Amino acid sequence: MPTAVVTGGSTGIGAATVKALAKAGYNVAFTYLRNRDKAEEVTREAASHGVRVIHRAADATSWEEMAQFAEEVKRQFGRVDALVANAGGLPERRTLDESALDYWRRVVDLNLTSAYIATKLFTPLMEKGVVIYVSSVAAYTGGGRGAFAYAAAKAGLLGLTRALAKELGPRGIRVVAVLPGLIDTPFHQKAGTGDIHAWAANAVYLRRVGTPEEVAEVIAFLASEKASYINGAFIDVNGGWYG
Ligand SMILES: NC(=O)c1ccc[n+]([C@@H]2O[C@H](COP(=O)([O-])OP(=O)(O)OC[C@H]3O[C@@H](n4cnc5c(N)ncnc54)[C@H](OP(=O)(O)O)[C@@H]3O)[C@@H](O)[C@H]2O)c1
Repeated sequence: MPTAVVTGGSTGIGAATVKALAKAGYNVAFTYLRNRDKAEEVTREAASHGVRVIHRAADATSWEEMAQFAEEVKRQFGRVDALVANAGGLPERRTLDESALDYWRRVVDLNLTSAYIATKLFTPLMEKGVVIYVSSVAAYTGGGRGAFAYAAAKAGLLGLTRALAKELGPRGIRVVAVLPGLIDTPFHQKAGTGDIHAWAANAVYLRRVGTPEEVAEVIAFLASEKASYINGAFIDVNGGWYG
């Protein structure tokens, strides 16, 4: 059975991805930060598809915690076929004027350095496989108010995608980015986005927000053999929203 690793799998897009990959027949190992109850719930649901699912609390920005998680994945599953670097977010909005260096570093660590750490630790466990980064439409648009560091980090993931697609492609490892738009997850409470439904009704061509499952299905497709010639690509999942 193939094995998938997902960072930030306790809620939102990550949780839906864990379940979609389990349904597709992957054993899944995922991390979370604080939400242990949710992680257990996701594990139970995903395991109902007859695969093995494990979860661990591991801060995606910590080399040490992620290295311990990688050791455990190696011990339990032996190899990795798909990595979904999903953990990220915007816990606090600040403009350039309101920001200081520590803010910049925190946001870039969470959304970009975390992807480097996961890639560095898990690609050695891949013979062939796929790495999927969860970027954002903000990489193109600059995001809403106070999202400049987030937008920069998510755009950084696009550079990482292209560069590593080139570097890892010859080894049979594909690297792709998924760019969600306005997706209905706890992200927006944490980021204080406001009324995402009103926002979507104005700005998104489909006039609605997306569901985490609509992103997870695309991720599961990209992980599958059906996407075997997609490499270095940026896949928008935003209902039409480029404003
Ligand atoms: N929702 C959107 O509209 C949207 C749009 C574009 C891109 N995205 C991106 O999609 C990804 C998933 O976001 P989401 O919307 O699903 O948000 P979410 O529901 O807030 O999920 C975030 C997940 O990441 C985990 N997490 C947060 N910080 C972490 C850390 N330092 N180490 C390990 N895990 C951590 C959370 O764990 P705990 O719950 O345990 O803390 C949770 O499982 C993020 O990269 C986000 O930037 C979201």
